Amino acid sequence: SKLKKFVDDLPDMPRIKGYTVSDGVPISTTLSIGMYQKLWKFHRDLPPTPVFAYGITKATATVPGPTIEARQGVPTRVTWTNHLPKKHILPWDPTIPTAESSSNGIPTVVHLHGGIHGPTSDGNSHAWFTVDFKSKGPLWSTKTYTYPNVQEPGNLWYHDHAMGLTRVNLLAGLIGSYTVRNPTVEDRLGLPSGDEYDRNLVVFDRSFRTDGSIYMNSTGNNPSIHPQWQPEYFGDAIIVNGKAWPSMRVRRRKYRFRIVNASNARFFRFRLSNGLRFVHVGSDSAYLGRPISTENFLLAPSEIADVVIDFAESETDVAVLRNDAPYPYPSGDPVNEVNGKVMRFVIERFSEADESRVPAKLMRYPKPAMHRAVKTRYIAMYEYESSTGEPTHLYLNGKSYDDPVTETPRAGTTEVWEIINLTDDNHPLHIHLGLLWVVEQRELVKVDEFKECMKKVNDAERCHVGEHARGRRHAVPRYERGWKNVFKMQPGFLTRVVVRFALLRPGFGYPFNVTGEPGYVYHCHILDHEDNVMMRPLKLVL
Ligand code: C2O
Ligand code: CU
Repeated sequence: SKLKKFVDDLPDMPRIKGYTVSDGVPISTTLSIGMYQKLWKFHRDLPPTPVFAYGITKATATVPGPTIEARQGVPTRVTWTNHLPKKHILPWDPTIPTAESSSNGIPTVVHLHGGIHGPTSDGNSHAWFTVDFKSKGPLWSTKTYTYPNVQEPGNLWYHDHAMGLTRVNLLAGLIGSYTVRNPTVEDRLGLPSGDEYDRNLVVFDRSFRTDGSIYMNSTGNNPSIHPQWQPEYFGDAIIVNGKAWPSMRVRRRKYRFRIVNASNARFFRFRLSNGLRFVHVGSDSAYLGRPISTENFLLAPSEIADVVIDFAESETDVAVLRNDAPYPYPSGDPVNEVNGKVMRFVIERFSEADESRVPAKLMRYPKPAMHRAVKTRYIAMYEYESSTGEPTHLYLNGKSYDDPVTETPRAGTTEVWEIINLTDDNHPLHIHLGLLWVVEQRELVKVDEFKECMKKVNDAERCHVGEHARGRRHAVPRYERGWKNVFKMQPGFLTRVVVRFALLRPGFGYPFNVTGEPGYVYHCHILDHEDNVMMRPLKLVL
């Protein structure tokens, strides 16, 4: 890519309130948000790109879509509508299990990632619908989704989740930020606030043809099996808030950035060129107990970092946000001059008064209670390969998505999940509805033996998981010791997480039924894996 970097200003996506105010009190509202095909300028010197964009109207639709700002405890209802044409802008492999029906338009369904809501509002992959609801998936049930926003204040995002089309629908642009706020408990923290100093950054990678269109290789690595599917999509250009390598003018003061990695497969390890530090105050879903300062951090697809950067501490007038994560992560190619840069901050020369602060204590949530776990589950990840060593598909526990549900936790309980990664890649595992706390990562010994056994009997206990999970411990970084909804499963390791199928606040109770149809899912958030088919159903029971 010969595009010049840092020539476009960083946009701020339109913000939409997920509530209305009546007599000074926020009350529930219903939004209508459409999906439209339109043209989008990713870079000053690139012709406009056909994209799929979310927006209240086609004219206001953006990539990423509008940021929805919800209030804790005030339900937001959204009617998601599909206005997309019949033909997708990207190639779509018919050999991976997808939502059918291209004759009646492009299947789409929206998932609020990190949301705690009922199953009919979860955007099940089989609850897809096409233009004007002409065709609907077998588990479709309702046009309007309800997000109760009963969870703790934090960072979510919304994106498409249609069966087998998630990777192409997100690549096309169907993504957006969603923030749950509670001013009563958050304002006293004193963190940088307001539209100018509290910003959302949605980061992803894309490749473009010279005519501006999104480039996606239309020949699979293994064309005799998958004419088009590739195990990971990587783009050369790094896009932030819809602009390639943008530039942002900042004041010499603190800013809060809520950073979503919305890439299909690219991990980012962020670092600022002038050594400025990131002070982590939260991640996906929730605040940390106390702020953690780091020089760099790793963000897998779908993870969210909530960081404060104090530009008053900068010794330079310019800071480049860099990335040095190999792709695929961790054993792929090193980054280069092109994809190793993300965006630029141009820092004003003169300091100014800054009343914001990062308090020593943030939010107090219950710690994970291992001793209260009612069940231990083993989730094994491995790849199935063709004779030439190309992955043909990736399964969780050797099962396809449509195999009968095996994960049926009791609503409101705590479980321990031990995720065994027998592949060479790091897989970000995301659990819908649940909140997870990573307890430890433990290296597996005699992996080949274990893998052979798992391939044969597919049962971690019978393969003596305990004897294999005896290697060195990998410390969980301090900024990741908190409640999250996705975590990075290191290759060759067993990752032990505590999962709570309940709200963070004890006794808060579910105001809605979580045990109904169509249930939830858990999956790898590398979208090309999720689609083929590293995803399983998850059903809560009473
Ligand atoms: Cu971010 Cu099941 O998704
Ligand atoms: Cu994966």
